[in-house]
Amino acid sequence: MNFAVFASGHGGNLQAIINAVKAKKIKAHLKLVVSDKVDAYALERARKAKIPCLGVSPKSFADRESFDRAILEHLKKHDIDFIVLAGYMRLVSGHFIDQYPDKVLNIHPALLPAFKGAYGIRDAFAYGAKVTGVTVHFVVEEMDAGAIIMQQAVTIGPKDSEESLARKIHRAEHQIYPKAIDLFARGKIKLVGNKTIIK
Ligand code: GRF
Repeated sequence: MNFAVFASGHGGNLQAIINAVKAKKIKAHLKLVVSDKVDAYALERARKAKIPCLGVSPKSFADRESFDRAILEHLKKHDIDFIVLAGYMRLVSGHFIDQYPDKVLNIHPALLPAFKGAYGIRDAFAYGAKVTGVTVHFVVEEMDAGAIIMQQAVTIGPKDSEESLARKIHRAEHQIYPKAIDLFARGKIKLVGNKTIIK
């Protein structure tokens, strides 16, 4: 199985995925890294790992769908079977998802369905939650709404700050995302209605 990672920023999850592929903990081929930010550090990580990468700015396209169509061309060229969103800060279009049905994964820095949206860590901390965590899920058109694949809890202690919580969350992400990707690539995740079963 060939996959692509989409990332908009720092690429911490991307690095964990690159490392897991190298260590054969993910038994699939990372063929392409895509970013909607041409200067994303994630692209630098891809270059260092000698993985083909692509930075495309949505500003040069009329709308979300034409941007996604341009990216889809590249995915076809690289024979991509599934997509991993890792800190990709854009909603993907319905057209895009239709091309990869139940084949787009995302990681969210909270225990869905709690604290949806772009600020899962900040929102859980500000709310005063005692437990939050990370969620790997399938991507559907509605934001953070697809079937849950894997979750890991992270506790928020009295001494935690938003920054220390962010560090714990990222650590948890880097642990579970490679595991979930490997299970998916090996056909071990079965979608039954709105739920997943790990075979
Ligand atoms: C992660 O916390 C991810 O859950 C969220 O964006 C962050 C990206 O971090 N969607 P990185 O770019 O992988 O370091």
